[in-house]
Amino acid sequence: MKARWLWLPALPFTLAVCSFAPQGGGTASGAQQALRASTPASLQSVNISRLYAENCAHCHGDRGQGGGAGTRTLLTEEKFDQKLDREFFDAIKDGRPEMGMEAFGGSLSDEQIWGLVVHIRELQARALREKNGSPRPVNGVYRSQRAAFRVETVVGGGKGLRTPWAIDWLSDGRMLITNRPGTLLVKDGDQLKEVQGIPRSVEIGQGGLMDVAVHPNHAKNGWVYLSYTEPAPSGNGGMTKVVRGKIEWQGGQPRWTSQQTIFQPDAASYTRAGVHFGSRIVFDGKGRIYFSTGDRGQQDLAQDLSRPNGKIFRVNEDGTIPSDNPFRQAGQLAAVWSYGHRNTQGLVLDLEGNLWNTEHGPRGGDELNLVQKGRNYGWPLVSFSINYNDTPFRTPWPKEGQDIVMPVFRWLPSIGACGLDVVRGPAFPEWRGDLLAGGLSGQNVDRIRVRGGQLIEREELIHGLGRVRDVVVGPDGMVYVALNDPDTIIRLAPAR
Ligand code: HEC
Repeated sequence: MKARWLWLPALPFTLAVCSFAPQGGGTASGAQQALRASTPASLQSVNISRLYAENCAHCHGDRGQGGGAGTRTLLTEEKFDQKLDREFFDAIKDGRPEMGMEAFGGSLSDEQIWGLVVHIRELQARALREKNGSPRPVNGVYRSQRAAFRVETVVGGGKGLRTPWAIDWLSDGRMLITNRPGTLLVKDGDQLKEVQGIPRSVEIGQGGLMDVAVHPNHAKNGWVYLSYTEPAPSGNGGMTKVVRGKIEWQGGQPRWTSQQTIFQPDAASYTRAGVHFGSRIVFDGKGRIYFSTGDRGQQDLAQDLSRPNGKIFRVNEDGTIPSDNPFRQAGQLAAVWSYGHRNTQGLVLDLEGNLWNTEHGPRGGDELNLVQKGRNYGWPLVSFSINYNDTPFRTPWPKEGQDIVMPVFRWLPSIGACGLDVVRGPAFPEWRGDLLAGGLSGQNVDRIRVRGGQLIEREELIHGLGRVRDVVVGPDGMVYVALNDPDTIIRLAPAR
C-alpha cells in the first residue's frame, strides 16, 4: 500500500515573496475590484465557512478544488503540509497580486485570515480522506511505509471494559487496565479481575479514573501509580489527583494497599467543569515522575504559575519536589515543570531522554511538543485553532516579546490527541525510537519520526477502528491500543 500522510523535513517558515508589479498603471483587475466590492465590513463577525464562501470560493472552488481565475487545486498532499501554514497565511494577507488575488490584510483580521487557513486544512483533510481512504489490510496484513503488521484483538468488547483509559503491565507480565467510570482491572489469563479498594473517583465529563503507570522497578518496590478525578469534598465537581499504591493478591483476588498521595491539588482548583483533566504519568527512571493536568476549562489559568491548571509537573517518585525544578519563587507551584498546556493526554520520554507531549487544541491545532524545563507552551495566548462554532480564535505565532515554544507538529484538523508512546523492544525494529500518537475523534494511530527536534515523517498506521484512548508499547514490543466505541484492546503485531 502506498504510504500516506508523509511529511518531508519541516522547513523554517518562509515568507511569501510578493513581487507586486501591477500592469496597466497599477489599477486593480476586474476580479479584484469585484472582490473588494463584495467584502463589506460586516463580514468581520461572520463565521469562517461563510467568509470563505463569499470571498474565496468563486476562485478557489467551494471545496478548494480550484478552477476559477486560473487557480489550481489546493486538495493535494503536497499542499496539506504544515510547512506551508505561514505561506498560506501570508498569501491571503498580502495577496498574490501578480496572479489576480487581492490582499485581504486590509479587510480581514489576522485571526480571520488564520481561520481561513484552518478552513482550507479542513477541506483538504476531507478530500484526501475521500480520495485515499483509510489504511486497509490485504489478507489481514497492513503494509505501512516501513513495517507490516496485523491487528489482533487482546480484550474483546463485552468483557468488562467500560471506556478503557489506560493500560500498563505489572512486572509479572499481567496487564492493568483503567476504566474511566472507576475500575482498575488486572488481566489474569482470560479473566479480568477488578482491583478492590482503589480510591474513589468521579466520572464527570472527560474525567474519572484515568492513567495507570507501573514503576519501572515494580518487581522490587511494587509501586503502581494512578491519576484520577478526585471528587470535591463538597461533592461538587473534581480535580486531577495522583496517588501510588501496591496490588496485593488475597485468595486469588487483587487488592489495592499501601496508598500514598503523590499530588494533591489545592481545594480552590476543584470545579464542576467536565473538561480537560490531562493525567498521563511518566517515569524518568532516575527517581522522578512527570504528569499532566488540563486547564479544566479555565483557559487563562494555564498561564498562572500559582494554579495547577494546564501544567506538566515534575516531582520525585514520593511526591516531594526536586530541588532543581524551575519555579521556586513565592506564589509559584514548585512542582510545575512547564505551562501553557490546554489538555495533555499524551506524555512520554523518548529513547534519548526527551520529554514529549500531545495535547488537544479546540477545533484544529492539536500539538506534539518537545517539553522543556520552565517553558511556556502558549495556551491560550497563541493557538493553531479556531473556535468550535467556526469563528476565529487566535493566530499560531508568538508576538514580539512572547517567549513561547512552538509545537514540532500540529494536527489540523484535530485528532483529539490521546495516548503517546515510543517504539522500543523487539517487535518493530524498523520503527525503533519513533513516536506513536493516538486520536479520539481522529480514530487514528500515527507514527511520527522526529530527529534533532524536527519532524522527519508521519504516517497513519490505523484509522477508523474506534476512538483511540491510549497507545502503549508492551513488554513484547507490540503496540497495544485501548479503543473506546467499541471498548476493546487491540494490538499491532509484526507480520513478516
Ligand atoms: C480572484 C481570484 C481569487 C480570489 C478571490 C482568491 N484567490 Fe487565493 N489565489 C488565487 C490565485 C490565482 C492564486 C495563485 C495560486 C494558484 O494557482 O492557485 C491564489 C493563491 C492562494 C493561496 C496560496 C496557495 C498556494 O498553493 O500557495 C491561498 C492559501 C489562497 N489563495 C487563499 C485564498 C483565500 C482564503 C481567499 C479568500 C479570502 C482567496 N484565496 C481569494 C486567486 C484568488
